[in-house]
Order: sequence, then structure tokens, then C-alpha cells
Amino acid sequence: MRPDAVHRVLDAELAAARDRRGGEPPRVLDVGGGSGVWAVPLALAGCSVTVVDPSPDALATLHRRAAEVGVLDRVTAVQGDTDALEPHGGADLVLGHGVLEVVDDASAALAALAGAAVPGGAVSVLVANRFAAVLHRAIAGRLVDARRLLDDEAGQLVGARDPLLRRFDVAGLEALVLASGLKVELLQGHGVVSDLVPGSVLDANPGAAEALAELELAASTRSPLRDVAARLHVLGRKSA
Ligand SMILES: C[S@@+](CC[C@H](N)C(=O)[O-])C[C@H]1O[C@@H](n2cnc3c(N)ncnc32)[C@H](O)[C@@H]1O
Repeated sequence: MRPDAVHRVLDAELAAARDRRGGEPPRVLDVGGGSGVWAVPLALAGCSVTVVDPSPDALATLHRRAAEVGVLDRVTAVQGDTDALEPHGGADLVLGHGVLEVVDDASAALAALAGAAVPGGAVSVLVANRFAAVLHRAIAGRLVDARRLLDDEAGQLVGARDPLLRRFDVAGLEALVLASGLKVELLQGHGVVSDLVPGSVLDANPGAAEALAELELAASTRSPLRDVAARLHVLGRKSA
């Protein structure tokens, strides 16, 4: 199975970082990295990964997962939040995946992420798309929720115990990244069509999974399909 749009971009970024560092392991900082969904595979791929997260439960799961696959020596867990990041950090790649939706101040958090990257380094931001959230609720028949989400400026389902404080659209995300001082090197969709195709279609048709992966990749950078992906992904570049 070929890697998805986000993994492709991160793989290329880490290969370039490894070259810059003369073959030394790239340094990755995963902010809000939780239980290690991104961090553990990156450690397995040979990166030195620091995870910063306020949740002790998530960090305990991270520790267990890293131990299970033998990469504890490449994973450092720090209990803390975006306020605790070093302003002149040394990470080749900073991840902020699924975190800008839950922090109190998304602008301040993104500025902290940018500050933690080395000059010339990259910040990878993955966020929930507010318009995809509307579509997915409508498709599920939750029409009142879909309308309330559409009308809420922050893209939050207020009063419904929404775990997210906000969701993003392309224009808002781009503006936020630019305001943090990063250059937007790439803005793509993640989960454009793959989140919509029922598993039964993939099970019933040989080759369908591969065809879907190819379609997903092709759609990930093409507006307007990109703009309604379940998640939006930005690779921001810090000036050298
Ligand atoms: C939806 S999870 C995302 C986990 C992982 N990054 C991923 O993409 O699968 C959000 C994570 O952000 C963490 N978090 C919440 N507030 C935070 C803050 N102020 N600074 C850093 N992390 C925070 C939570 O503990 C949680 O682990």
C-alpha cells in the first residue's frame, strides 16, 4: 500500500533533514502527540522523537507502545503543553496534528510550534476541516447538527459536548500559518474520498484499495476536492 498524502510529505521532509544532518537521525518534536500514533512510527523509521502532551494517560500509552516495538531509546516523553515549548528549539520537524482544534489559543500555539523548529525547519499541521464535518453529519442524517456546525463561526458544534473548540477551512488555516511567520509550502487535503467509501466496497472489489489510495492522492491537492477533505494538512517552512 502506498503512503498517504501526509506520510509522503513527511517522508520527503525527513529524508531531506537526514541529508542536512549528515545521516544523523532527524529530530522530531510532536506537540500534542498523545499516545504516539505519529511518534512511534517515526521513531521506528529512525527519528529521534520528543512528544509533548499534557495527558499522563496518553504518555503512558506512548511509553507502552514505544516499548512494545523496541524504540524507547528514541522517544522522549514530556508532560506539558504548547506554553512549555522552547522558543528557540532545535527540531528539524515539528508536528502539530490534531492539536490546534483543542488548545485555548490556536495562534499562540502555532507561533510556539514555529518557534520550536530550527531555521529552515518545517512545521506539519493537521486539523479537522469544518466543511467536511458539515458534510459528514449531513450524510449521516444529522441535519440539525450539520446546519449548526455550518453556522458556527469557529466550526464548533456548540452545546453538543463537541470535543473540539474549533475546526478550520482552507482560507482560515492559511492565514493562521502565515501569521505565525511560517511560509505555506503546501496545503493539502487528507481524507478527501477515503473517509467516504464504505469498507464493503473495498472488500468486494479486488484492487479497489489500491485504486482508492491513488484517487485519494490525486484529489489531495486539487481544489475544490481538497477543500472538503476530512482534514487539512499544511507544511509550513521557517525561514533559514
Ligand atoms: C486529538 S489528540 C491528537 C493526538 C495525535 N497528535 C494524533 O494526531 O493522533 C489531541 C492531543 O492534544 C493534547 N493536548 C491538549 N491540549 C494541549 C496543549 N495545550 N498543548 C499540547 N497538547 C495538548 C491532548 O492531550 C491530546 O493528546
